[in-house]
Amino acid sequence: MTLDETTHLHARPTSPSDRPVLSVDRLTVDLDGADKQPGLVEDVTFDVYPDRTLALIGESGCGKTMTAMTILGLLPPAIAASGGSVTFEGRDLLTLKPSELRQVRGGGIGMIFQDPMSSLNPTMKVGEQIIEARRLHIDEPRNQAAKRAVELLDQVGIPNATSRVDAYPFEMSGGMQQRVMIAMSIACDPKVLIADEPTTALDVTIQAEILDLLATLQRDLGMGILLVTHDLGVVADFADEVAVMYAGHLVEFGSVRDVFHHPQHPYSQGLLDAMPQGAKPRSQLAIVSGRVPMAGQFPSGCRFSTRCPHVVKRCRQAELSTIDVALDHRSRCLLVQSGELTLAPRHVNGDADGQ
Ligand SMILES: Nc1ncnc2c1ncn2[C@@H]1O[C@H](COP(=O)(O)OP(=O)(O)O)[C@@H](O)[C@H]1O
Ligand SMILES: [Mg+2]
Repeated sequence: MTLDETTHLHARPTSPSDRPVLSVDRLTVDLDGADKQPGLVEDVTFDVYPDRTLALIGESGCGKTMTAMTILGLLPPAIAASGGSVTFEGRDLLTLKPSELRQVRGGGIGMIFQDPMSSLNPTMKVGEQIIEARRLHIDEPRNQAAKRAVELLDQVGIPNATSRVDAYPFEMSGGMQQRVMIAMSIACDPKVLIADEPTTALDVTIQAEILDLLATLQRDLGMGILLVTHDLGVVADFADEVAVMYAGHLVEFGSVRDVFHHPQHPYSQGLLDAMPQGAKPRSQLAIVSGRVPMAGQFPSGCRFSTRCPHVVKRCRQAELSTIDVALDHRSRCLLVQSGELTLAPRHVNGDADGQ
């Protein structure tokens, strides 16, 4: 399936009764050490809603993983949050003790990474790993947890779950390992699932199966999903809202429909235009010409100014935040905000009202 054949671009979200399950507000993360970069991630704001998927997109090195790791409290030693908040179930996760964060991770917030072996214990049977998670997070008696482990493996589509609980991860294919990781991630009925490039390492058919599985689980469990991806086909198929990151800044935020039809930042427009119509399903994001600056080398003002075709002198001086430039649609571009730049709407075929 190509983007222009996508079944639907979701309509604008939230009914007024919807409350976010996870709120990231003006999050700033600093890098210390030789490549010192205050604002490695800077002023990032978004909400994740129950039963909805927010896609975090941008080229490699834009800070998507760093943002996810900050939420999970899994930052490497030289990196630390220095501002903003991450609110989950009434608490700011940035202020929790490590032991409290461990309880949240794998409990209320599930996580899936690109490489299943980074989260699975190679020396432990897969069923045991699920049992351990449930005992740790919800203090469930062993025999009940064991029963639930089989159900979970079955639920994520692992054949012969009753016998596969006794398999070790290395006895399984990559696609099956990914399913085990998903079973682990939902083992404690999370309210939020953070999935960082969950299908990038898998071949196309398995990718589609895993995404279908996530969609089914989301429907069943009502989880909010934060999906990190560089794949716009996945975004179009799967996400409701999209946050575009560039060099640690959130440059645009809106519904998938609005952003795909009316990008309001030159970077997002570049990304979308770089995805050829008729591209292979879930093909890699083509690169806008130039490169994302490395940490420690961000330009002042708009960080995209060094690659932007519309740049003017003021872009390099202005300290901006994202503001609404249309209903529920935020942009960080100075020229879009001031009305000096109007980006052309994009026509996404197969979506009749592509206005
Ligand atoms: N362990 C690390 N130490 C220092 N800098 C890092 C580390 N990991 C990533 N970075 C830097 O942080 C920035 C964001 O990286 P990352 O969040 O991994 O990007 P993405 O997930 O969007 O590809 C990049 O400039 C990257 O070089
Ligand atoms: Mg990443």
